[in-house]
Amino acid sequence: MTVLDMRDVRKVYRSGDAEVVALDHATLAVDHGEIVALLGPSGSGKTTLLSIAGGLLAPTEGSVVVDGEDITGHDARRLTAFRREHVGFVFQSVNLVPFLTAEENLLVVDELGGGKGGRAARERARALLDELGLAARGSNMPSQLSGGERQRVAIGRALFNNPGLVLFDEPTSALDTQLGEQVMELIRREMKARDTAAVIVTHDTRMTHYADRVVRIVDGRLTADPVPA
Ligand SMILES: Nc1ncnc2c1ncn2[C@@H]1O[C@H](COP(=O)(O)OP(=O)(O)OP(=O)(O)O)[C@@H](O)[C@H]1O
Ligand SMILES: [Mg+2]
Repeated sequence: MTVLDMRDVRKVYRSGDAEVVALDHATLAVDHGEIVALLGPSGSGKTTLLSIAGGLLAPTEGSVVVDGEDITGHDARRLTAFRREHVGFVFQSVNLVPFLTAEENLLVVDELGGGKGGRAARERARALLDELGLAARGSNMPSQLSGGERQRVAIGRALFNNPGLVLFDEPTSALDTQLGEQVMELIRREMKARDTAAVIVTHDTRMTHYADRVVRIVDGRLTADPVPA
């Protein structure tokens, strides 16, 4: 079953008279529970592709179906509601809310969805932090956490609503190699345990063995690596 189905997506940015074709004929299908690494040089269109896959940005042409719902023509309001239920995001610069504790950073997701941060939500936040090895860190502020710990809080936040798809934009680039490997291992374990699909943008070829499949992007065009036998 396909959780992400992007077809013939084209994205043209216009600023003044200048036009940049960031994506061209991009077609990508990702199955439930599948982990895809998206590899490509700076400026090749990786973040643009993730943003379109997750409904943060509309394509100029082409279609995007997530969890069976065609989101191509959704307006901003419907996209926001859709993202909350179906898509998790983890970015390179972990954007935790600096004045909330680790646990509260997870509960933000619940509150944005109209929840009251009640007992069930708090228990879910604690269980997730526990699972991510952060049981003792729930009441710490982001500034009191290491880079790897902050990245794990961000992963917990992305998983809070049980999305079918989580999009990672260079989740390990701010970490040293060993910590990066640990975070990738954890991402893989958590995705597989939930049958959640992931697209993981990376510059780093050392991280691709954590993926089921590698897709490369150059100048806005995708090419798949041959699937290993
Ligand atoms: N908002 C924007 N307006 C105009 N051009 C943009 C915009 N966002 C991205 N671009 C351009 O589109 C192209 C693809 O950008 P994108 O951010 O998707 O690349 P990337 O692969 O994520 O790069 P990096 O590895 O440096 O993060 C680049 O040429 C970039 O300059
Ligand atoms: Mg980028």
